[in-house]
Amino acid sequence: LKLGVLVSGRGSNLQALIDACRDPAFPAEIAVVISNRADAQAIARAEAAGIATAVIPHRQFASRADFDAAVDARLRQAEVALVCLAGFMRLLTTGFVAAWFDRMINIHPSLLPSFKGLHPQQQAIDAGVRLSGCTVHYVRDEMDAGPIIVQAMVPVLPDDDESRLADRILTAEHAAYPLAVRLIADGRVTVSGERTLVSGGGW
Ligand code: GRF
Repeated sequence: LKLGVLVSGRGSNLQALIDACRDPAFPAEIAVVISNRADAQAIARAEAAGIATAVIPHRQFASRADFDAAVDARLRQAEVALVCLAGFMRLLTTGFVAAWFDRMINIHPSLLPSFKGLHPQQQAIDAGVRLSGCTVHYVRDEMDAGPIIVQAMVPVLPDDDESRLADRILTAEHAAYPLAVRLIADGRVTVSGERTLVSGGGW
């Protein structure tokens, strides 16, 4: 399965996908990594791994639709079958979401539907929950919503601050994202309304 990974920053989830794809038995490969920021560490990670990259600076476009069209064209050029958002910090237009419907996934550092949006780890601490984690889900128009593919759970510890909890969740993310890609590539994920069915069990 050919992946297109959209990034804006550090790229640790991209790195987890790169590492997973190194295993010849992993049923996916990264065809292109696209960043809206030239200085993203994620771009350096992709280059180090010998993966094709594209920097598409959003400020160079008159509208979100024009920016999304450029991203779409690059994904199609690379014959991408599944788009993976991995710390991509731009909102996507309805048209782009529709064009990649059920073929675009995102990872979010909370157990959705709790704590959508920015600073979900701080939101979890502020809410006093004892468990948090991450969610890989299909992308819909509403931010951080859509059929859930994989979730992983971590404890929230009494002396956690945002950064400690974020680190613990990130470790879980690095296992969850490759797992979600593998389940999809193996044809084990079916979208049914607002849910997915995963054959043969999730983990
Ligand atoms: C991750 O926590 C991801 O869940 C969120 O943004 C962060 C990206 O980190 N969407 P990285 O760039 O993958 O290191």
